[in-house]
Amino acid sequence: MISRCQHLESNVAANIRAQLSALDTAYWRDRRSHKPNVGLSGEVGHYFSCGRESVPQEIRQLIDDTAPNFFGYDLEDWVVNKTPKQGGMPPHIDNEGYLAVALLCLQSGSGCFEWYHGNDLSKPEQIPDEAGQVIRFDQVDLIHAVPPAHSERYVIVFLYR
Ligand SMILES: [Fe+2]
Repeated sequence: MISRCQHLESNVAANIRAQLSALDTAYWRDRRSHKPNVGLSGEVGHYFSCGRESVPQEIRQLIDDTAPNFFGYDLEDWVVNKTPKQGGMPPHIDNEGYLAVALLCLQSGSGCFEWYHGNDLSKPEQIPDEAGQVIRFDQVDLIHAVPPAHSERYVIVFLYR
């Protein structure tokens, strides 16, 4: 099951984004070479991640306080993904061992999240990025992707067990 909702006011999302975008590049791990999330055909996505434990305390607290609930699951961890313009993620299945995921988008117009009806790659469905929007899914084998971003894209990935 996949669903979307407006979780935060867009200005609240913009405030979190502003603080994350001010972080030095040293905070971000290049996922092309660090724990790459390999796509179905072996391609590697182009994006950067900063884990909860690496985010400065003030921002970590802010994100902890705004984490969405996912009924029936417990929040275990989160990670911020930053995708550069033209970066993205090929169609893939998450392999991080969590049962459910919520994606909090921090800006509008940066691109979209793509998933596929019945995991059929010929049946893509796109959910455009909206500041403060949350996309939830608890289908562990859901194939999903991020098509080339239109502009720098920040998404917080909340992971549940
Ligand atoms: Fe993923």
